[in-house]
Amino acid sequence: EKDGHDWFMRKEIHEQPRAVADSLLGRRAPNGELQLDEVRLSDEDLRDIDKVIIVACGTSFYAGMVAKYAIEHWCRIPVEVELASEFRYRDPILTPYTLVVAISQSGETADTLQAIRHARAQRSWVLAICNTNGSTIPRESDAVLYTHAGPEIGVASTKGFLTQLVACYLLALYLAQVKGTRYGEEIADVLDQLEAIPGHLERVLEQREHVYELARRHVGARSVLFLGRHAGYPVALEGALKLKELAYLHAEGFAAGELKHGPIALVEDGMPVLCVVPPRGRDQLHDKMISGIQEVRARGAHTICLAEEGDESITAYADELVRLPRVPVLLQPLVAVVPLQLFACELATVMGHDVDQPRNLAKSVTVE
Ligand code: F6R
Repeated sequence: EKDGHDWFMRKEIHEQPRAVADSLLGRRAPNGELQLDEVRLSDEDLRDIDKVIIVACGTSFYAGMVAKYAIEHWCRIPVEVELASEFRYRDPILTPYTLVVAISQSGETADTLQAIRHARAQRSWVLAICNTNGSTIPRESDAVLYTHAGPEIGVASTKGFLTQLVACYLLALYLAQVKGTRYGEEIADVLDQLEAIPGHLERVLEQREHVYELARRHVGARSVLFLGRHAGYPVALEGALKLKELAYLHAEGFAAGELKHGPIALVEDGMPVLCVVPPRGRDQLHDKMISGIQEVRARGAHTICLAEEGDESITAYADELVRLPRVPVLLQPLVAVVPLQLFACELATVMGHDVDQPRNLAKSVTVE
């Protein structure tokens, strides 16, 4: 049942190329347009949307953070991302022109369910991104975009997260198509890039032994930091969450630019710092990240850098290096999170923990 793997989690990590490919099947209409038939909101209703609020918990919340970057960039609509447990209690501004997107793998998370009930009571549209057919959250939503991960058994979400990201990109592109903020060709280009992701993921997975070896080297660590910028920031948060929940280690993710505003004081000699390096591009993201890496390294951090193939500027500052395929910055979370999943899975395994059933955690959290 685990396909020769020791854990469901490890099996599910390896299923990700397939899960992403399945999530992209049948999305192109004969005229080349993106089709999301199951989103039952009419084009008129979608065109009127003037704000998106994403509500979710945990890993699904981090998928929502990535979605914000994509929707704002492609659709020019303001997006808020809110922890479902906080959303309802701050009197959010909801109108009939607000689209609330609830992201939930299980579809049963109580905090997220309460958030959508609140949104619907204010007459906002609710769209669920969910992996579980017929679960409560999609049943109580106006529309649903199902992810195609297949059942996720490991308590820590892996393929659930990747397919949520794909669903978020598709939703963002669809909104851009309906609102006319992107041309058909641009949308088709991104779909091409998404369709290349399963092949890229296979190449990332081929480096598994290298990542496992890195993880084993850090078994004694007391604390591990993760740094990212832009779409790499939620990846850093997700990497840290995986390590907390599986290895019971203190781990924290930071936006690299925030380091100097406080967290850099945490850095001690030999502390592992995993860095998600943005692809090289026209903006200064990449270079700014490199200076952040230099700063922690100058204070004794042991840097483990995830950087795209061909990026040689990183080699001087990386104590260890994991190569990522070259993809646009918005899509980089899809490939960058995988080494972090492998890292956490292996570290927890070597520490003797039950990776599929971490202490104190449940697969679906049905209490608020
Ligand atoms: C972390 C993890 C949790 C869930 C969170 C939301 O690995 O699995 O943080 O992401 O409990 O669950 P869903 O997506 O089912 O609403």
